[in-house]
Amino acid sequence: MTASNNNPNTQMKFEGFSKLNMAERREKLKEFCALTDAEIDILSGRAGLSIDQAEFLIENVVGLFSLPLGIATHFKIDGEEFAIPMVVEETSIVAGASAAAKWVHRNGGFKTQSLGNLVIGQVQFPTVANPEAFVKTLTEHKDLLLKHANSVVPRLVERGGGIQDIQIRLIDRPDTKTMAVLHILCNPCDAMGANIINQVCESLKSPLEELTGEKIGLCILSNLVDTKLVEARCEIKDIEPELAEAIVEATLFANLDPYRAATHNKGVLNGIDPILIATGNDWRAVEAGIHAYSLMESNKGKRSITNWIYENSTLKGSLKIPMAVGVVGGVTKIHPTARVCLKMMGIQHAEQLAKVCAAVGLAQNFAALRALCSEGIIQGHMKLHAANLALAAGATQSEAREVQKILSGETKISFSRAQEVLSEVRNAVKQ
Ligand code: HMG
Repeated sequence: MTASNNNPNTQMKFEGFSKLNMAERREKLKEFCALTDAEIDILSGRAGLSIDQAEFLIENVVGLFSLPLGIATHFKIDGEEFAIPMVVEETSIVAGASAAAKWVHRNGGFKTQSLGNLVIGQVQFPTVANPEAFVKTLTEHKDLLLKHANSVVPRLVERGGGIQDIQIRLIDRPDTKTMAVLHILCNPCDAMGANIINQVCESLKSPLEELTGEKIGLCILSNLVDTKLVEARCEIKDIEPELAEAIVEATLFANLDPYRAATHNKGVLNGIDPILIATGNDWRAVEAGIHAYSLMESNKGKRSITNWIYENSTLKGSLKIPMAVGVVGGVTKIHPTARVCLKMMGIQHAEQLAKVCAAVGLAQNFAALRALCSEGIIQGHMKLHAANLALAAGATQSEAREVQKILSGETKISFSRAQEVLSEVRNAVKQ
């Protein structure tokens, strides 16, 4: 990194955040995000989800499970500064995202755009006797079916959303019969849309069976929402050409090899999942959608969900993924910490959250590739992980810091080495 930070346009509100202690970090966050003391209490774990609330979320509840909540800093997305809440157990993800965001910030920040706003519900007919007649009947009655579907979600329609289209897909079966699948396309506004679309699909079952004389199989949403894509882009000028070219080469590796693509794309999800968890979103749905999308794109030679090119001395990165997230309804509204996390980012609409996820995913990919193409992953990741190893070896918090300091000067960082160093630290105290 070579750029200086004299330009007021690139001044970062969270400069040095990682050097603050926890109380100072909370104070800074409170000020920057206009949080109340009660909201800081929720973030700190002093308040938050109660066991009584948890009892309503899932079944057979016996307790709560805690994970760290960290703040990724320096994110400038479409001209706005963000503090990004990340709930994750893995060392160096928050640091990596922040370091990458700092670099991109100096280069103007991330730019994002939404490509589509529709989620997909599937109504499946395992076999249709006469595909041609089937298509004709449905096409003739499409308006009626749309009217029926929208009557199930009147409030959504009032808010400007609702069912926008019904598409028919015919699929050849191995037994030479024809399967038909209707795609019910719905704009769920600021909801993730799963419950809405499932209800609509089920409500269409009887009218569709009556109309077509065919039997319906499954009625359920699809997580492959290629009708609701989000794109993030960034440009990095202050980068050594060798590093930029190595990052481009790493992208080619991921595009050519599914074994590498899985890890490359996991690195992107390192950035996305923690935000989804922090905001009470269904990260399994988003993950499933992204992996299926990457599989679909692999036909075009694109296994990597990011793309990096180097032209005119500028490294240009982009990420395009399906992203069905919500900021209303479900856990998002019930979980107190999820509510504060959304407030922290000033997010009111699902589209904004999707854009933030895309930008952080791209940042995380840049962080990982930069490390892999230069000093290697051990340097940054394992050195931060050393404190975890020390804690696992039984160190107190202050001993863990001491062990981490010693291990960060070494090339082999392992649990057994952490145990050895811990006993050395303890022996030194005794002497
Ligand atoms: P660095 O350049 O030495 O960082 O990177 P720095 O000391 O210059 O600090 C720059 C900024 O980074 C700081 O700004 C912080 O924002 C952040 P400041 O706050 O000072 O204004 N930062 C930190 N924040 C909190 N705590 C810290 C900290 N250190 C820096 N301790 C870094 C150091 C670890 C960030 C770098 O080595 C890195 O990005 N490594 C890669 C991390 C990574 O990708 N982790 C993911 C886990 S590995 C994995 O699962 C994915 C993978 O398999 C994917 C793939 O294969 O593609 C790798």
